Amino acid sequence: MARNAPAYVCQSCGSSHRKWAGRCDACGEWNTLVEELPAEIVPRGLGRGQARRLDTVALDAPAPETPRRITGIAEFDRVSGGGLVPGSAVLIGGDPGIGKSTLLLQAVCRLAAGQGCLYITGEEAVEQVRQRASRLGLGKAPVQLAAATNVRDIVAALDGPDRPDVAVIDSIQTMYVDQLDSAPGTVAQVRSSAAELIRAAKRHGTCLLLVGHVTKDGTIAGPRVLEHMVDTVLYFEGERGHQFRILRAVKNRFGPTDEIGVFEMTDAGLAEVSNPSELFLAERSGDVSGAAVFAGLEGTRPLLVEIQALVAPSPLGTPRRAVVGWDTARLSMVLAVLEARCGVAIGANDIFLNVAGGLRIVEPAADMAVAACLLSSLTGTPLPRDTVVFGEIGLSGEVRPVSQPELRLKEAAKLGFSRALVPPRRRRGGRAAGLKVPIEVHEIASLAALLPMFGNGRETKE
Ligand code: TYD
Ligand code: MG
Repeated sequence: MARNAPAYVCQSCGSSHRKWAGRCDACGEWNTLVEELPAEIVPRGLGRGQARRLDTVALDAPAPETPRRITGIAEFDRVSGGGLVPGSAVLIGGDPGIGKSTLLLQAVCRLAAGQGCLYITGEEAVEQVRQRASRLGLGKAPVQLAAATNVRDIVAALDGPDRPDVAVIDSIQTMYVDQLDSAPGTVAQVRSSAAELIRAAKRHGTCLLLVGHVTKDGTIAGPRVLEHMVDTVLYFEGERGHQFRILRAVKNRFGPTDEIGVFEMTDAGLAEVSNPSELFLAERSGDVSGAAVFAGLEGTRPLLVEIQALVAPSPLGTPRRAVVGWDTARLSMVLAVLEARCGVAIGANDIFLNVAGGLRIVEPAADMAVAACLLSSLTGTPLPRDTVVFGEIGLSGEVRPVSQPELRLKEAAKLGFSRALVPPRRRRGGRAAGLKVPIEVHEIASLAALLPMFGNGRETKE
């Protein structure tokens, strides 16, 4: 390709193409190719040049002590793996309006007590940020604010004599490198802006927090490339209509990725929710059919949520399946097992499944709770109110053990549940490991064993 000839760069995966096409060959996305000047031109071989000797370090050499920067917002610190690591770059993705700016403003105001903090806004005016901070009662925090979008200026501030220890860039999509012709927000701009900022931050051990907006199909706008460049990727998610917000680690070079942090959006900003189960169960109504409480696990924390199902006769040839907060393929599997292994005629109905509170569950351990609420809705039989359910379902209808049953049961007992439908316990040396929890445990070996609780799965609604 001729030098500086325009290329068409996929805004989803970042691959570049010689010609425009409706669909990106590399990732299969539609309408994502945008004309850009190529950001980098691969040289043919290295040519001549003076090479420097590499300085290597032994793996077991004593590591310098790098204390993490703790915000004091426990939900945030846990997700970041125990505080921010100096010199690391953290990307915080999320839908517009979900509360990323609010979260980072609160975090940075807490951090400012012990270290220099810089908040760069490319979207709002400085005055707007100040007003928000004072409304949140953080107006006195010693944070430096600036409205800037040119990466050159920001890098100068990160390199300057009074450089910050922590810098927030809100958002990376508004930043631009003045040497590139493409508009802010395109892959080339986002990638080079991030690379420059990260390089500057690593030079001085600055913690860099980048905000990234998410496109409507769920990827951080444009750059999946960005996810490779940063050390940690956090997603801030939640349903618009609900006040709960969940911070989830997707990638973390310095900590686990299965932790979540739960927040509640209030009129005074984001409040930490240290006992999310109580919150997720708060809106539970009386004895209604089609609901089951799932005792789940998010990272190291047990989390109880209500799963709701509505099974209704379908007027359509192809019945509808609408799922919020769970995996549609997993629902199809549970339905198929109910049909084929338990003889429950459910497939011809419209099925709506909802995880209450806007939480998204990824654990297969929710299978049995889903099956229970489907059966409950189908038969019009409520599950007893004091019961929690968990267990993975296999294709032959067997219920499989899941991790940490005791932790789940303890949380259930703590919240006043007195019965649990659980998988058979793992046998060690012929004996079942004893569970020491103050809760009545019913071991369910196969999905068929659930049926008697629901009149053997026959519809009794009408
Ligand atoms: P914001 O942090 O601006 O979202 P993002 O940066 O992800 O685009 O949050 C904006 C939303 O949060 C807005 O819809 C109003 C709501 N909000 C509150 O409910 N209470 C508050 O105290 C604040 C600051 C925002
Ligand atoms: Mg914002």
